[in-house]
Amino acid sequence: MSEPKRIPQHVAIIMDGNGRWAGLHGKERYEGHIAGVEPVRASLRAAARWGVKYLTLYAFSTENWGRPAEEVAALMELFCRSVVSETPELKRQGVRIAMIGDRSRFSEKVQRYLAEAERETAGGERLTLILALNYSSRSEITRAVRLLASRAAAGEIAPESIDERMISQALDTAPYPDPDLVVRTSGEQRLSNFLLWQSSYAELWFPEVLWPDFTETDFDRAIEEYARRDRRFGLVK
Ligand code: IPE
Ligand code: IPE
Ligand code: MG
Repeated sequence: MSEPKRIPQHVAIIMDGNGRWAGLHGKERYEGHIAGVEPVRASLRAAARWGVKYLTLYAFSTENWGRPAEEVAALMELFCRSVVSETPELKRQGVRIAMIGDRSRFSEKVQRYLAEAERETAGGERLTLILALNYSSRSEITRAVRLLASRAAAGEIAPESIDERMISQALDTAPYPDPDLVVRTSGEQRLSNFLLWQSSYAELWFPEVLWPDFTETDFDRAIEEYARRDRRFGLVK
């Protein structure tokens, strides 16, 4: 493969299609989620190889709480198990685990496991893996608006001083650059409440592959696809 010139600094993935994959293989939906763990490892390997600095994975949306209780419970169990089993290897690879979303709705146990993974990998400098958990863009923006409104009400900031930078800084993603490329697997072409503010000028790519079938080669295709795009940011060349 020829070496693409432009590498995205931040890739964000909407990991979709686990349920359909399970259906196609005569399995239960939760088995599709379990099959979705290996593609996470593959994506991390590929991202690290390309020198991508930030990889955001949409793992659980705020709307996903509305799924059947058994599926939600299986997902929570899988998050706990995965962060525990993967943390040593991530640490070895220099991957730092971070999170966006409102974690306060998770059980104490889940919150503890997530916080432990963050603490354990805090020194990782090669790549930051940002897990979007109980994440929805509208809820994130609503929390940010509330924060800025309360700071204005307290006289800490003037309403007219609120600018785009200040809003970005009030979002969960404040420490990270905007995604350059957003990938959604399974052929669906929508964002489903994911990084709406941050993706203003992101390139979008919608491969047909179901998430459990996503491989390092698919990630490589994403990088090649990105290198072909002409980003203009509203300007003329
Ligand atoms: C994505 O796969 C994983 C989560 C939303 C947690 P889905 O479970 O949405 O799979 P489909 O879309 O039903 O195939
Ligand atoms: C988006 O997928 C959320 C995650 C991948 C975690 P969904 O499967 O929940 O989204 P819709 O329902 O197809 O829009
Ligand atoms: Mg889905």
